[in-house]
Amino acid sequence: MDTLRLGPSDLSRAAALLRAGGLVAFPTETVYGLGGDARSDAAVAAIFAAKDRPRFNPLIAHLPDMEAVERYAHLQGDARRLAEIFWPGPLTLVLPIRDGAELSPLATAGLPTVGLRVPAPPLALALLREAGCPVAAPSANPSGRVSPTSAAHVAEHLSGRIDAILDGGPCDVGVESTIVAPSPEGPRLLRPGGLSAERIEEALSRPLLPPYPEDRTTAPGQLASHYAPRGQVRLNAETRKAGETLLGFGPVMADLNLSPGGDLTEAAANLFRHLQALDAAQVTRIAVSPIPETGLGRAINDRLRRAAAPR
Ligand code: TXA
Ligand code: MG
Repeated sequence: MDTLRLGPSDLSRAAALLRAGGLVAFPTETVYGLGGDARSDAAVAAIFAAKDRPRFNPLIAHLPDMEAVERYAHLQGDARRLAEIFWPGPLTLVLPIRDGAELSPLATAGLPTVGLRVPAPPLALALLREAGCPVAAPSANPSGRVSPTSAAHVAEHLSGRIDAILDGGPCDVGVESTIVAPSPEGPRLLRPGGLSAERIEEALSRPLLPPYPEDRTTAPGQLASHYAPRGQVRLNAETRKAGETLLGFGPVMADLNLSPGGDLTEAAANLFRHLQALDAAQVTRIAVSPIPETGLGRAINDRLRRAAAPR
């Protein structure tokens, strides 16, 4: 694919690409983000494919103002206070998703919360306003490379893999946003970043708590760090055994199929949606077809292996 090099005067073109499900790298005050429509499973899967990510972590969705944020998530208490003081700016808040918000479960990794932020640069805000959708955007670099702070830096690694790069000059901050998640025990600092913890603690008049441990599973009243279906999961299933529901991949007779044509990007796009559908159907035993360990298959298998691990 040819990657368009766009400037501020091409803003409408960039917004139209996002609305059409395309991938557009754009500048925020922290780093350049690789943006795609956060409501679209296909656009979000394409982000992971372009970055060659071996894991599906939840992505940050970008919005132009607090009013837009409140259409997708509940903004209350300490989170609202931080939003009022620090947005637009290098702060991401992890918030409970509103019912019917229509965010792609791949963008949120199936969690009941979403990381949202309102970036500062006028160009980014104008793009988000004109796109009219929440824009999921991890840093615009291939997995394992440093985060880009200029359009040239994005082009070096992602040219040919994304639809466009919107050049708005260098980023001021140069490190990712600070991520804060309210929790029953108080606000937690999930990732230090461009806004100092001290300024946040000063605004809240209380210390920030550390993040939950990585392997944290759901406990009453607490936040899950990973989504896993309630049913038991068996991997590399060539056939369905009695009592199992088959989640297929490729040309197999399955109850639900991640991609009948064996396309890994399509399978990634469907993964969390299908797992959630199996949960909704109260399936107790899930068998999953073998999935090749290449490209996005690695991220799909990583997630399925965690789902299959004893809990
Ligand atoms: O500065 C930034 O934040 C850049 C620019 C482009 O805005 N974006 C960025 O996005 O770093 P991303 O998608 O790479 O950040 C993802 C991280 C996850 O690894 C996780 O730590 C946190 O955001 N996150 C997102 N949603 C979450 C959720 N629901 N629960 C917990 N953590 C979440
Ligand atoms: Mg990154």
